[in-house]
Amino acid sequence: MTDPSALTAEAIAAIGKARTATELERVEVEYLGRKSGRVSKLLEGIGALNPEERAALGKAVNEAKRTIEEALSARRSQLEASRLADLAETEAIDVTFPGPPLERGHIHVLTQVRRQIETILESLGYQVELGPEVETEWFNFEALNITAGHPAREMWDSFYFSPELLLRAHTSPVQIHAMLRIKEPPIYIITPGRCYRRDAPEATRLPYFSQVEGLAVDRGLTFGDLKGTLLYMIQSLYGRERRVRVRPSFFPFTEPSFEFDVSCGICGGMGCKSCRHKGWLEVGGCGMVHPQVLRNGGIDPTQWNGYAWGFGIERMAMLKHDVDDMRLFYESDLRFLEQF
Ligand code: PHE
Repeated sequence: MTDPSALTAEAIAAIGKARTATELERVEVEYLGRKSGRVSKLLEGIGALNPEERAALGKAVNEAKRTIEEALSARRSQLEASRLADLAETEAIDVTFPGPPLERGHIHVLTQVRRQIETILESLGYQVELGPEVETEWFNFEALNITAGHPAREMWDSFYFSPELLLRAHTSPVQIHAMLRIKEPPIYIITPGRCYRRDAPEATRLPYFSQVEGLAVDRGLTFGDLKGTLLYMIQSLYGRERRVRVRPSFFPFTEPSFEFDVSCGICGGMGCKSCRHKGWLEVGGCGMVHPQVLRNGGIDPTQWNGYAWGFGIERMAMLKHDVDDMRLFYESDLRFLEQF
């Protein structure tokens, strides 16, 4: 039969060697396990001893149990303390460690082009004026001389909230807002902004798009002032070699009215595949402000006159960057957007 104090010494040595809580638990089971633990086994055959020997062995075994338990608990605290110390070492947060790189975005190509146009026109003295995207029938149509039932209304097939309220179909209503707000000419404003029309998305038109409207009201303005302004803007944006031409057209709010084109940047106006052999690319509409529109804006047309234009920013960006499908601007495909 093993001697309790020898077993105790053995157990204490094993406890000292345990490196982890799991190893320690194995030692505990080996020595103090309820049935097959080695300390319990010391009591096997106790029945054959006389009462004195029995009492002595019981006492020695209890002593051994207590000593081993104490050693276990001391070692357990030791191991836990060193585990925590290791954790503090290995899991410490290094606040000086550089973070994962953040990808930097950039300004959307349409915003870039809009800002370029704004900068060019601001250098001529125009100021940016903004207007609401939800408009009344009066501002979007009536005040611009586009009376109900006029066939020209078909040019602006609009989204209505009610018979009175709609999403603006062009930026021209801001002409009226600007005149009513500023009251005293001279007025030189540009108004960039989103417009809406009931068109299915196609390569060359979208149900939502952006325009830049221009309006000048002053004394004795001529069509030459308008064309010179457009030429300056086009050449600043596309290069000095580009030319502007106008063709007679019709808008109820300008008289006379024109469409304006820019010479093709690829063939220089000779005609090529890119301009469908026309030599010119359509940009927008323009004209001298109709006297009735000045009156609707609270301005006396016998004292003042004006010119105005409007064109699509998407169209301008397509011409600038040789993009052949307007929908690309709004599809948020990074492979497309990252090019600009
Ligand atoms: N508002 C017109 C359009 O959307 C463009 C335009 C603006 C024409 C100003 C003439 C003068 O088609």
